[in-house]
Amino acid sequence: MTGTAVPERIRQAVAALDVRAGDRLLEVGCGGGVAVGLVCPLLITGTITAVDHSATATARAVRRNAGSIGDGRATIATAAFTEPGLTAAGISGRSFDKIFAINVNLFWTGPARAELALAAGLLAPGGALYAFYEPPGERLDELAAKVTGTFEAGGFTAEVLRLPAPVVGIVGRPWAAPDGRPATPRHGTPRHRLGTIAAQTRPKTCARSPPRAPPTTLLLDSTTRPLRVVGAARPIPGVQLS
Ligand SMILES: C[S@@+](CC[C@H](N)C(=O)[O-])C[C@H]1O[C@@H](n2cnc3c(N)ncnc32)[C@H](O)[C@@H]1O
Repeated sequence: MTGTAVPERIRQAVAALDVRAGDRLLEVGCGGGVAVGLVCPLLITGTITAVDHSATATARAVRRNAGSIGDGRATIATAAFTEPGLTAAGISGRSFDKIFAINVNLFWTGPARAELALAAGLLAPGGALYAFYEPPGERLDELAAKVTGTFEAGGFTAEVLRLPAPVVGIVGRPWAAPDGRPATPRHGTPRHRLGTIAAQTRPKTCARSPPRAPPTTLLLDSTTRPLRVVGAARPIPGVQLS
């Protein structure tokens, strides 16, 4: 890697990725390949593939990472992060443990449904998608909320990482259906946050009671312990909504 200064957002993003020696990484929008240059020394059996749709950017990334490309740790391709783009670059059909993007507009300027579905298909079981941003001004919270919503509507769970510099990271994992396959997005409500606890909430009935009230679906925030009830279809005696 050549000796240009490493921007703080890239240093922090790579630290947050917690790269393991055997990780298979995919970077989307690698620009001049600075992150690739930080990741490669951390890899032993692992690899990083980096794509950017700008040929000017990938030419710089190739120059910067010539050594790691030569020893097989890095692959850099001029490709858009789309199914046809990756297919043309020979990248589709592969599996990655971590997919990441740093300061790439993709996930906050629009719903990015196709890109999220593409990422879900490329992630190995247990894999994660990371989007890092260093927005100008005080827009960290706004951006984190937007990207979190985009991830959740696109079939991912989302967790926000606040990093020391004015950098925010959003980590997404595809929702898993009970059979282990990625679940289909439903109205933007992640499956893991929905708990149907009909048994506890159905009113007691006797033989002559009128028809039973339907079970109540509670929205549970699974990021807290004990689970926090954040919403319910109707009031439940004794249950305080937070
Ligand atoms: C602002 S630059 C960031 C570069 C680098 N990640 C950084 O943090 O310095 C965004 C890069 O993403 C690339 N890019 C944007 N959308 C892309 C897409 N859909 N597929 C591939 N590359 C994309 C652009 O060409 C550009 O090089």
